[in-house]
Amino acid sequence: MALREIRVMGDEVLTKTCKEVTKMTLRTKILIHDMLDTMYDAMGVGLAAPQVGVLKRIVVIDVGEGPIVLVNPEIIETSGEQTGDEGCLSVPGKAGTVTRPQYVKVKALNEEMEPVILEGEDLLARAFCHEIDHLDGHLYVELAEDGLHEVQYEEEE
Ligand code: NI
Repeated sequence: MALREIRVMGDEVLTKTCKEVTKMTLRTKILIHDMLDTMYDAMGVGLAAPQVGVLKRIVVIDVGEGPIVLVNPEIIETSGEQTGDEGCLSVPGKAGTVTRPQYVKVKALNEEMEPVILEGEDLLARAFCHEIDHLDGHLYVELAEDGLHEVQYEEEE
């Protein structure tokens, strides 16, 4: 298990457009596994490659239904609307209200570079949008409707 440093807002790498992955290499496989380890360690539901400083179009997501790896993901269909709190591992301790589609269909490649189509609703739809935005240098804070608020963590007793 290898953890990578999560870049935080203000780091220029988070504002860049990522490059398509053209072939799966050992180096890229290691990156994907490190991204999953880093996401789980930080208790996030998603992580995009630029958040660990790599400008490749790769995201990992787990909304509690097992890991999803998306290479070169593209949103091909959306419907409905949901408004709710959103956070990001690159914006620690904060959340903001963001409106996203209720349903999102994504076309991508999996870790074996095979084409896949995935559908998500609710939190998964939100995660698809949020993580794919990272690949084009966008953070949810640009969409937050009433600015950001502090996230209260419960103290352990
Ligand atoms: Ni994020």
